[in-house]
Amino acid sequence: MKNPIKIDHCIASEVIDSRGFPTVEVTLHSQHYSASAIVPSGASTGEGEALELRDNDAKRYMGKGVLQAVSHVNKEIAPAIVGKEFVMQSILDDLMIKLDGTENKSKFGANAILAVSMAFSRLQAQINGQKLYQGLASQFSSQGITLPVPMMNIFNGGKHADNGIAIQEFMIIPSGFDRFSDALRAGIEVFHHLKKILHKKDLTTAVGDEGGFAPRLEPGVGEAGPGSHERVIVMILDAIMAAGYKAGSQIFLGLDCASSEFSKKNSQGKVEYAFEGSQLSSDEMTALYGKWINNYPIISIEDGLAEHDWDGWKAMTTKLGKQIQLVGDDLFVTNPQYIKKGIEMGVGNSVLIKLNQIGSVTETLEAIRLAHHANYTTVVSHRSGETEDTFIADLVVGSDAGQIKTGSASRTDRVSKYNQLLRIEAALGAKAQFKGKAAFKR
Ligand code: PGA
Ligand code: ZN
Repeated sequence: MKNPIKIDHCIASEVIDSRGFPTVEVTLHSQHYSASAIVPSGASTGEGEALELRDNDAKRYMGKGVLQAVSHVNKEIAPAIVGKEFVMQSILDDLMIKLDGTENKSKFGANAILAVSMAFSRLQAQINGQKLYQGLASQFSSQGITLPVPMMNIFNGGKHADNGIAIQEFMIIPSGFDRFSDALRAGIEVFHHLKKILHKKDLTTAVGDEGGFAPRLEPGVGEAGPGSHERVIVMILDAIMAAGYKAGSQIFLGLDCASSEFSKKNSQGKVEYAFEGSQLSSDEMTALYGKWINNYPIISIEDGLAEHDWDGWKAMTTKLGKQIQLVGDDLFVTNPQYIKKGIEMGVGNSVLIKLNQIGSVTETLEAIRLAHHANYTTVVSHRSGETEDTFIADLVVGSDAGQIKTGSASRTDRVSKYNQLLRIEAALGAKAQFKGKAAFKR
């Protein structure tokens, strides 16, 4: 694509993410240009994700150092790419994937390969005189003008908090607006009103990993009891009303249950879910979601069932798939192979897109393309461990994906992505599009 890019230097180093754990940063140089990228890291990871290489040296950062991944970039990837010209992102990515030679990038680490891949996208855009979202749009053959509907995780549970709430993310979806900036403002105002409501109830307003509130609703430690999840939903609806917005026409709700985290196989080999003090089957979980959908303005449920529960997913899609968006995260792990399986089986109707689940920009774009061709929606997503890198903001616009999940209205690791989207909206001016509710249509 356009000018071949000659890489003059490639340098990796260890930097720190939003949870205080190390991650990989790579800087690439070409003539007087240079571009860097930092990879994120998940907590509720899917089993099928590409391997995030950690040192496991207990003497450094609780074993979570990434010096090996850094060394793989500096000693193995750099010698193979420095001095070479690349005309396309995919040629660089394919070369690294071949050099690694494993199914799941376990030799170099997906954190090593992805950092180089993302830095190259930035470098290439820069050299071509484009913004990153424009560079990604040319790679993707898309228009690159669609600002996403933000799915803002304003109440954190699961592995991102320690409040005993099983469901990991309670999101507000301000899709009933004409512009991204208006939708974002509405979401942020709801966040402030939720804070007031929690405060009045004497619940703590400290935040979880993704910047949403994370109070324990019941005293003591352990799992939240019957009805707690609905209490959270009702408080959020109250906050929407207090902020002066209409739930169900301007602002909707979404859940990421991340249910693999509270599921297990029972002695008959059936998947069971530990939920509010009971053991529920896939059908019972699906029935519960069905009831919630009828009672509350929920339009999207991610990982409602576990990553290995494909039969449960199939039945859930048949029951609920016409009414709402069913997003596969741990289920699909941004992997074209799993997405194809889902499409063939008629499982889910939406794919969560996380660069580091698959480990290269090229494969991420392929996952989005595959989903769109099958009429599945896509949601570009952060990880619970993030940094100041705002790549996903450009990716969601560049691919016209239409929806983004990048946390709440606090923590700079989350807000930095919203700020980048505001900059892109301003730069696009009258060309900027916001699909609003249509972003959820298939
Ligand atoms: P993770 O959470 O980054 O901890 O995997 C995000 C998600 O499950 O969507
Ligand atoms: Zn998820």
